[in-house]
Amino acid sequence: MSQLSQHEQWASKIGFILAAAGSAIGLGAIWKFPYVAGTSGGGAFFLVFLIFTLLLGYPLLIGEFVIGRHTQSDAISAYQKLAPQTLWHVTGLIGMIACFIILSFYSVVGGWIILYLFRAISGGLGGLSQTQYGELFGEIISDPFQTLSAQFIFMLLTIIVVGRGIQQGIEKASKLMMPILFLLFLLLVLRSMTLDGAIEGLKFLFIPDFSKLTSETVLYALGQAFFTLSLGVSVMVTYSSYLNKEQSLPKSAISIIAMNAFVVVLAGLAIFPAIFAFGMEPNAGPTLVFAVLPVVFNQIPFGSLFFIAFLILFLFAALTSAFSMIEIIVASVAKNDAKKRQSATWLIGIFIFIVGIPSCLSFGVLADFKVFNRTIFDIADFTVSNVLMPLGALLISLFVSLKIAKDTLFAELRQGATISKLFFDIWFFLIRYVVPISILIVFLDVLGLLDFLK
Ligand code: TRP
Repeated sequence: MSQLSQHEQWASKIGFILAAAGSAIGLGAIWKFPYVAGTSGGGAFFLVFLIFTLLLGYPLLIGEFVIGRHTQSDAISAYQKLAPQTLWHVTGLIGMIACFIILSFYSVVGGWIILYLFRAISGGLGGLSQTQYGELFGEIISDPFQTLSAQFIFMLLTIIVVGRGIQQGIEKASKLMMPILFLLFLLLVLRSMTLDGAIEGLKFLFIPDFSKLTSETVLYALGQAFFTLSLGVSVMVTYSSYLNKEQSLPKSAISIIAMNAFVVVLAGLAIFPAIFAFGMEPNAGPTLVFAVLPVVFNQIPFGSLFFIAFLILFLFAALTSAFSMIEIIVASVAKNDAKKRQSATWLIGIFIFIVGIPSCLSFGVLADFKVFNRTIFDIADFTVSNVLMPLGALLISLFVSLKIAKDTLFAELRQGATISKLFFDIWFFLIRYVVPISILIVFLDVLGLLDFLK
């Protein structure tokens, strides 16, 4: 009991779901999914992404919840408690490093939203032609002063909220914000799907062309599934550590998966029909949604107002995800010490900003600096999404199935939930075999080590 009272807890059931969903729903679904799907073959990518979400994402999410709630500890201590004197806590460390790197480039994109918001409010985004939007955005993101300032503002907002430990208030606000975001998305989807030529976009997204599927696109789909769900980096371990025993873990996990998938589909439906209707290319890369969205809003009555509202909610969604990334680092460093928390958040936040500077500049002055044909931004993204996160997920699945007794797992899962033995057995099978083996196969395939099978 003493442990419980020392450790902060979510004020209500809904608080946890909102925070976890807030971490999940963010740039991954709205910004990253469309552009990665656009460069990775559309429908086939989407299908593989969905399969990975259900088959690997769902069991893993439950797995992270079990570790977190069972130990009531941060990302490092949780592993130490369950497997003392071993190296398993490295799993938590990988998660912290991954979150650190993610936030360094996530804040760059967060900054772009802020810049767009300023422009939209000052009336500088209305009535341009399609190519003008493309050019304008190109100009904005190559300007080092503007983009770095905006990135800094994004980090500042994150630091202030997390440093004061006031996420819970923010999470409550998302109870209101998220439904509005959904509604605005619906409006966008309606407009986008009724444009002339929209059907081509739907075909692109929903009709899989398996000839487009390569080892790499499968890896991207895996990375995307983990990225949108914030999996493999112990964020969900940390968040569920604040959870009481009355909440059903499988139910919480499925509602988070469902909400997230819903946003992914909405984003796809809003973006792809418009791309094809306007004769744009789906493979523009990280700038894709920023070039497409204003053009769609331009075609809606009172579009500029709606666009402002949309950007505010988009920023909000990005911020709630950013909180979770810095939170797991702060929680591990500051434990439960409120004084340390403030200073730790500032130090870590500023450091992340500095590390993110090259990513920001890789759309401007450093655009030509490439390693393996990738910019610094792309390298940072690739390293976490497609290496560190799957690796972390692999370790977590092994940890859960090898290091925690089956009885303990079953007992923890049954707290607050009525689950059958069959459900448990299926979950256990998935996390013990299907998750790690799938990740290994995808890795080996990308490294070309499975070529002899072809
Ligand atoms: N899931 C978030 C998104 O889709 C991103 C995110 C939040 C994240 N926390 C994370 C990604 C931790 C990796 C690790 O935008």
